[in-house]
Amino acid sequence: QDDRIERIASTIRVIPNFPKPGIIFQDITTMLLDPKAFKDTIDLFVERYSEKGISVVAGIEARGFIFGPPIALAIGAKFVPLRKPGKLPGEVISEEYSLEYGTDKMEMHVGAVEAGERAVIIDDLIATGGTLCAAIKLLERVEAEVVECACVIELPELKGRERLGGKPLFVLIKSA
Ligand code: PRP
Ligand code: MG
Repeated sequence: QDDRIERIASTIRVIPNFPKPGIIFQDITTMLLDPKAFKDTIDLFVERYSEKGISVVAGIEARGFIFGPPIALAIGAKFVPLRKPGKLPGEVISEEYSLEYGTDKMEMHVGAVEAGERAVIIDDLIATGGTLCAAIKLLERVEAEVVECACVIELPELKGRERLGGKPLFVLIKSA
């Protein structure tokens, strides 16, 4: 395993009982304070995706907006924001997904991605996988090819990977 990964992992702050009792929050903002760790994180994704014919990096609001744009710029792809409902001003398609309590929606601009484009979806973390599952559906509705989903952190105990319908998932760090 790449020796950058252990160093990156050491910069992520773990905060128990946030935002609710029982949740162990993985805080990537402390990694952003360490320019080497942040750069290594971006580089690891760029190395993986630069020669794969990717034309779309889709980032999930909010923390996918931190990692997605530098990756998109480095590999020469467009960046497409997948946003919470009511935020995108143009015509959108939307997908509902389940949260721990209730549901939420994710939206994408119509026309941002064309049929046949090759996409990578980026977020900071996969927990139950509901969020990434909605993102995959949005891209597949416009007939893009989702080549892979990529996250900095996976919580494997929550088995989110199994909800991605066989779509490949690449993560840097697995956390308990
Ligand atoms: C967190 C995290 C992922 C999502 C993962 O985002 O950033 O986007 O949850 O959860 P899942 O795999 O169980 O769907 P959150 O909904 O807290 O919103 P934020 O990124 O806007 O803070
Ligand atoms: Mg999020």
